[in-house]
This record gives sequence, C-alpha cells and structure tokens, in this order.
Amino acid sequence: ALERTFAMIKPDAVKAGNIGHILTMIEKERFKIIYLQMLKLTEKSVRLFYAEHVEKPFFPSLLEFTLSGKVVAMVLEKENAIEDFRKLMGATDPKKAAKGTIRHTYGTEMPANAIHGSDSRESAKREITIFFGEFAAIPSSEKR
Ligand code: CMP
Repeated sequence: ALERTFAMIKPDAVKAGNIGHILTMIEKERFKIIYLQMLKLTEKSVRLFYAEHVEKPFFPSLLEFTLSGKVVAMVLEKENAIEDFRKLMGATDPKKAAKGTIRHTYGTEMPANAIHGSDSRESAKREITIFFGEFAAIPSSEKR
C-alpha cells in the first residue's frame, strides 16, 4: 500500500555537507518528499522523539549527538515506504550496514549513523505527528 514514513538526516551528515547526496539517494529510490524541514532540536523534543531510548545506557551520547547541530526532518511517501526506507538506510550501526546503503555510505560510528527512519507503521505515525502534525501522516491516496 502507499505509505508514509518519517526520516531525519542527523547532525553528522548535515555538518559533513551530505544533505544533497542523501536526498539524491532517496529520490533515486522513488520516494516522494512530501514535507521537509531543517531545524535544531531541543532536549525536550529529543526526549519525546526518542522516548523508547531514554532509559538506555547510550541515551546520554545519543542526546548530545542529536543536539549537536541541525537536522533535516521529512515525510516520505512510496508504496511500502516504511520497509523500503529501512532497506535503503541499512543496519543501525554503520559498520554493519550493507554497501550501497545510506548508513554505510555516510554514517561513521554510533550514534553518528547519518539518518533515522521509522521502524513500523505505529512509529511512522507517531514520528510524523511530532514534527508535522496528524494530517501529514495520511497518504495522498486516502485524502481524495
Ligand atoms: P536511530 O535509528 O535514530 O534510533 C536510535 C538511535 O540511537 C540510533 O539510530 C543510533 O543513532 C543510536 N544508538 C542505538 N544504539 C546505540 C548504541 N549501542 N550506542 C550508541 N548509539 C546507539
């Protein structure tokens, strides 16, 4: 089905000048960019966005990293967008990500893995809603 997913280019990739390269990889795979915003997150918004990781041992480093610069948040639409985007990103750890994936190409070392993508339909809806509102989570095909 036509789906929407949430993606976020992280501060490491923004600082390295890889926004354009990453958007090119995304568009080459026929994802349609529906919304896009460049912004600096706040501690409060990182705690909300990464709520499931707040108690994990790596959270302090994830928080510091996510606050270290601007991010590019976006809503992407495509058939099977959520699963297909996870394939395009590659494994969470850039050192384990397959060749040709965004994280293998532009990530370095955790938590600096260049990009985030929703891991399920529920996460996609939650994450899109945080950044762009509830209406933004509904695919074009259901808006007619
Ligand atoms: P992301 O897909 O955005 O989801 C949570 C993020 O936490 C993940 O990408 C990494 O940036 C970071 N992360 C996950 N596991 C670890 C870890 N073991 N050590 C450091 N950072 C991690």
